[in-house]
Amino acid sequence: MRKEEKAEFYYLVNEIIKHQEFQKRKEYLHHEDNLYNHCYQVAKITFLISRKLKLDYKKATIGALLHDFYYEDWQKNKKRKSFLKLHGFVHAKEAKENAQYYFPSYVDKKVSNIIERHMFPLTLKPPLYLESWLVCFVDKCVSITIFKNPRKLPKYIGLKELKKNGKNNSRRCHRSWHRRD
Ligand SMILES: [Fe+2]
Ligand SMILES: [Fe+2]
Repeated sequence: MRKEEKAEFYYLVNEIIKHQEFQKRKEYLHHEDNLYNHCYQVAKITFLISRKLKLDYKKATIGALLHDFYYEDWQKNKKRKSFLKLHGFVHAKEAKENAQYYFPSYVDKKVSNIIERHMFPLTLKPPLYLESWLVCFVDKCVSITIFKNPRKLPKYIGLKELKKNGKNNSRRCHRSWHRRD
């Protein structure tokens, strides 16, 4: 990032990242990192690409920064939920509502759409603006470890990660089945 780009990026995101509610996301687990860093990274990449492509980069950056601004650390919530209520399906809508509540002056129609549709295709409705498509794409690129490791895919939608020893367990079951014979 060039010096002037850095300055403009900080100018855009400064108020939000310093807000107490946004700072709390440093404590929220997100894949192999925390949620604050994840959102910051998605915002930074979105800023650079959307500026280069001459898109509405200010709104794209704010939408990217707030795309995962959901209510609570879902990994600490042990309540069982029905499939369609899992994190992967509901957090984009939660993030939009939360962003409208805490940062109303930043969240207009386009920013709302960027946040609400970033989980497409899990959110069945596709993004409406180019900026929304961009954030949807950048978010997935930043979360690429998920796609490199298929065991982590269930966690992406809010289910528990598949156990590493699953294979060993099946071997053990297989052996005991033989023993019973
Ligand atoms: Fe998300
Ligand atoms: Fe994300």
